[in-house]
Amino acid sequence: MTVNVVFASGKGGVGKSTVALNVAVALAQEGIRVGLIDADIYGPDIPAMVGITRRTPATSITLWQAQVPAVEPVEHLGVKIMSAQFLIAEDQPLDWQMPLVGLLMRRLVHDVTWGELDLLLVDVPPGTGDLQQELFTLLADPWVVLVVTPQYSAHLDGRKLVSMLQRRNIRIFGGVENMTGLDCPSCGAQMRLFEQVSEEYAIWSQGVGRLAEVPFTPADVASNAHTPLVLAAPDAPASWQLLEVARKIRSVLL
Ligand SMILES: Nc1ncnc2c1ncn2[C@@H]1O[C@H](COP(=O)(O)OP(=O)(O)OP(=O)(O)O)[C@@H](O)[C@H]1O
Ligand SMILES: [Mg+2]
Repeated sequence: MTVNVVFASGKGGVGKSTVALNVAVALAQEGIRVGLIDADIYGPDIPAMVGITRRTPATSITLWQAQVPAVEPVEHLGVKIMSAQFLIAEDQPLDWQMPLVGLLMRRLVHDVTWGELDLLLVDVPPGTGDLQQELFTLLADPWVVLVVTPQYSAHLDGRKLVSMLQRRNIRIFGGVENMTGLDCPSCGAQMRLFEQVSEEYAIWSQGVGRLAEVPFTPADVASNAHTPLVLAAPDAPASWQLLEVARKIRSVLL
């Protein structure tokens, strides 16, 4: 049986795609059969992050058809990747609303020739709108990994996501705190990048376990732009933390 794990956040830009991609690659390296859905139709970043492209633009007509041909994922770094970007033309204005968004989500989950998978990771846009709700309905017994930065706003919005998940009885595997700080290259001291939300207000006080604390990693460390950090700089502290998330998913969910 495939275990489904959604990487979600209330606030945008906190690192969902980065964490999902690195976890996917790390687990694939260990021989786990991993699929990764980039369900962010408004900003499908995963293909660009690893430098793959594919243009099989779907029109709304093919989405509406009852019988649609299955789509092949793109296998890269051992991960079967399916992105909304593969189905939408690059210059297509995205003014889609429900139910078209729902049909696209259905296609990403069910109309892909995944083959046998141990784990299906899903990268979603931030928030708790129609698209996310639809995905949680389409995926069988999903687990959620929440991604936050130490900022107040990330936890403010994250708390809303936690409430929604709890109300829908969707299981939260834990939270990843990303961009926790930056090691000063000259003195080695750790600098904070953001204000720190209080522990009492943070999502950790809502029963979300902290899976890892991933420091900010400058581009100079992650030298190859298209190689996920766990491969490009496996010894970087951020990689250890990302590998720890992968290890916990493997040991608890698989
Ligand atoms: N630990 C980190 N160190 C350095 N840069 C990071 C780190 N985590 C994420 N980033 C960078 O921050 C930006 C946002 O990350 P990412 O795209 O993964 O966030 P996201 O939550 O998926 O965003 P969105 O909500 O737009 O989908 C990217 O440019 C990414 O490379
Ligand atoms: Mg993203």
